[in-house]
Amino acid sequence: MTLKMTWYGHACFLIKTGKAKLLTDPFITGNPLSPVQANEVEADYILVSHGHGDHLGDTLDIAKRTGATVISNYEIQNWVVNQGLKNVHPQHIGGGFDYPWGRVKLTIAQHGSVLPDGTYGGNPCGFLFYIEGKKIYHACDTGLFYDMKLIGEEGIDLAILPIGDNFTMGPDDALRAIKLIEPIHAIPIHYDTFDIIKQDPHAWAHKVKEETSVKVTVMKPGDVFEL
Ligand code: NI
Ligand code: MN
Repeated sequence: MTLKMTWYGHACFLIKTGKAKLLTDPFITGNPLSPVQANEVEADYILVSHGHGDHLGDTLDIAKRTGATVISNYEIQNWVVNQGLKNVHPQHIGGGFDYPWGRVKLTIAQHGSVLPDGTYGGNPCGFLFYIEGKKIYHACDTGLFYDMKLIGEEGIDLAILPIGDNFTMGPDDALRAIKLIEPIHAIPIHYDTFDIIKQDPHAWAHKVKEETSVKVTVMKPGDVFEL
């Protein structure tokens, strides 16, 4: 079955599997490029990579409205429970879990994770999805790290990588990440949302094409990628 992945900008994807709707890092309100409103977004599961506002985003509101289960590290899970959420599933770095729709494992990410009120948010993470025979690595916010090679050894169909620079990898390191991971497809994210992370994703895609055989898809917020 084809996975339909809608990009809502920044690090937010809605992944429609045959069994569930998965929403990653739902930064909708306050994202000038978001193609949707937080009160119309659907979700059965919300995955939160770290505590920063541009990733935690509208998690609380969307989870309260939809009843979606929040998947995140143990520290963020404690915090969202204290904010009134009941449907949660804590995991942590290196740990995977089999959900009715597939599996997700939390990977390392080189970044920070404090929550909006200053609460410690544990270690930030990326997501490695195993859904309907496909493997998707969503790096979320991270700098380049050599262990991406280990992630690549799993045989990645799609790598979702930040290219914005300043807070995360920039285009040059994202190209090095591509060479470590060797995915079939790649999608650049976490750029243009703010002036400080302005990038040319087409120039990056061109460079990837010149130096590797990885297929890059540059999306516009609201676009759907089928895998
Ligand atoms: Ni961040
Ligand atoms: Mn971010």
